[in-house]
Amino acid sequence: GRLSRVNNIADLRMLARRRLPRPIFDYIDGGADDEVSLARNSSAFADYEIVPDVLTDVSRIETGATLFGEAVDWPLMLAPTGLTRMFHDGAELAVARAAARHGLLYSLSTLGTTRLEDLAAAFGGPKVFQIYIFKDRGLTAEFVARCKAAGFHGLALTVDTPVAGNRERDRVNGLSLPPRLTLKSFLSFAAHPGWSLPALRGSKFDFANVSHKVDALAGGPMSLFDYIGGQFDRSLTWKDVEWLAAEWGGPLAIKGLMTPEDARRAIASGASGVMVSNHGGRQLDGAPAPVDQVAAVRDALGDGPDVICDGGIRRGSDVVKALALGATACSVGRPYLYGLAAGGEAGVDRALTLLREEFERTLALAGVNDIARLERRHVRPLLSRPA
Ligand code: FNR
Repeated sequence: GRLSRVNNIADLRMLARRRLPRPIFDYIDGGADDEVSLARNSSAFADYEIVPDVLTDVSRIETGATLFGEAVDWPLMLAPTGLTRMFHDGAELAVARAAARHGLLYSLSTLGTTRLEDLAAAFGGPKVFQIYIFKDRGLTAEFVARCKAAGFHGLALTVDTPVAGNRERDRVNGLSLPPRLTLKSFLSFAAHPGWSLPALRGSKFDFANVSHKVDALAGGPMSLFDYIGGQFDRSLTWKDVEWLAAEWGGPLAIKGLMTPEDARRAIASGASGVMVSNHGGRQLDGAPAPVDQVAAVRDALGDGPDVICDGGIRRGSDVVKALALGATACSVGRPYLYGLAAGGEAGVDRALTLLREEFERTLALAGVNDIARLERRHVRPLLSRPA
């Protein structure tokens, strides 16, 4: 089928673009303001060269890693993404099933559209719940208790979203939750029969993990800006991290920090790792590319803590570069969402297969037969040449 003719993540993106109504595709694909960080997240990888070794016996390549204390087949994780049911009926379960087949860690967003208990029941692999802290603080303690009971292995606290980023594509498209049936959106939906919104077909679209407490959508469709502005607590500080770490007592990553100083504070506050991230360019436009911050963060933290490079990864070779700079692993959001939109579970599978093949091929060509042997000397910033 079409999926087998897809050669890379960029091809999957094009398939997703054809398949989805424009407002839905733009919600996945877009970033904040001028999308400078969105573009930079990926282009920064091209500014590193891979410096290969030769004749090192690459007949077998060790790629296993430990993330959030759990063994994974290779150091990639699926980043938390909200609203997944809007992209494909299969929603989070389709993504998680593909992750399990690839021996990868899956993370479920607070704003996901599948109950965390249902996800845990269907997915035996390593799983992380991504927490947003709501103004109703009781919800956070409740998340911790539910995650323990359901057997989640880790938590990721997202700290780059005190307010919603300015996603102008969503403003232009008038994207609302759930998508509103206007004449314009109806025409766009009708022109994309390969896509169907469960809400339009009678099953309820909601934020499955919070709707028992936060029924903000009950009054009718609203924008994500209004939802975040109304619900998220912007008074959060490191004290809240200490509280969460103690309450949870397991692996905890702080997602969305950028500097060595904040990374040190995260570990001092009880976190076991950090996700260096600018939310895929969807929050602070102008923030640095995560890959450019990885080496400094690793140097600040030493060997122990997980350092996950999140954002802009579109090739397996990008993962090799991030690891050589000191990352424990990388995480991807859009690459698997493009796959999901393009072909459901099979599309996610295709995205993960492509990245995995690129990763192994790059390691072989770089002469690295064990990811533990990847070193800083294997990457080098582009030489700047005199004009
Ligand atoms: C996200 N991201 C995100 N992060 C988070 O902590 N909670 C969330 O609910 C979401 N939702 C979400 C939706 C969509 C459609 C996208 C594309 C992203 C950010 C995500 O976890 C991750 O940081 C980025 O996707 C990484 O960048 P790439 O891989 O998309 O370039």
